[in-house]
Amino acid sequence: MTTATLETKPMTAEQLILVETDGSVGIIKLNRPKVLNALNPELMTQLAEQLEAFDKDDSIYVIVLAGSERAFAAGADIGDMAECSSLEMYKRDQFATWDRIKRTKKPIVAAVSGYALGGGCELMMLCDVIIASDTSQIGQPEINIGVMPGAGGTQRLTRAVGKATAMDVILTGRFLNAAEALAGGLVSRVVPREHFYSEALRIAHEMARKGPIALRFAKESVLKAHETALSEGLEYERKLFYALFSTEDQKEGMRAFMEKRKPDFKGK
Ligand code: CAA
Repeated sequence: MTTATLETKPMTAEQLILVETDGSVGIIKLNRPKVLNALNPELMTQLAEQLEAFDKDDSIYVIVLAGSERAFAAGADIGDMAECSSLEMYKRDQFATWDRIKRTKKPIVAAVSGYALGGGCELMMLCDVIIASDTSQIGQPEINIGVMPGAGGTQRLTRAVGKATAMDVILTGRFLNAAEALAGGLVSRVVPREHFYSEALRIAHEMARKGPIALRFAKESVLKAHETALSEGLEYERKLFYALFSTEDQKEGMRAFMEKRKPDFKGK
């Protein structure tokens, strides 16, 4: 494992995310260190816009979404909504931005360390492959501030870890440590703290060497498993599988296997 750096300078003081590319990997780092990357509407809008930009960029195959070593994100910005009425929250419709993020077609690798709480946990769960440091503390502590998860926590956490653990986490507000999150299937891999970012990047590059259309279709099909009955999901998967046989990448991938060489995928 190598240790890549997390240091990147924002171009303006307003930049709540930091963006860079590394070959065919697009990288987004949440950038509100003073408030542990609390997710305010401006940050979420910048994030949605950048994910959409990466989705449209043919040179990007995989996206990495990272927080800092201390916090992936400590939740929605509490100060931003503390005095809002129900009607104001309804009119704001701040979760519409989350719907845009959910529509990202390219795979997102989350680089998680420290706190992933409330909206931070919900954002993490919107990612596809989740690389967590051994210092991660993951939870939905909204109950401690008189509310409940609002960006998918009651649904996605329950689907990931099952009812008993989800109830424990959501109703007591306790944090899961990295080992518990891994055992519960909430994160994909746990790595030592100093490697959480470099490992996420390494895995993103590993994925980026696969056929990009197959990556997107495979993501879409896995997500269907959360949305549909088994028979419908199987039908959906089969159609996408057949559709891949109209791509050059499928021919290249299978021929390369037969010819005992590495495939050269072109995203066509
Ligand atoms: N919103 C706004 N500011 C936050 C924040 C949040 N979610 N989480 C942390 N901060 C701020 C703190 O207010 C503090 O700011 P100041 O230095 O100006 O006081 C700074 O970040 C550092 O935090 P702490 O001093 O509290 O650091 P700590 O190490 O003692 O504790 C913590 C860390 C356990 C994460 C604690 O900050 C905490 O409990 N945060 C709130 C977690 C939470 O309740 N998240 C859910 C939010 S609601 C939500 O997300 C709804 C939804 O479903 C979308």
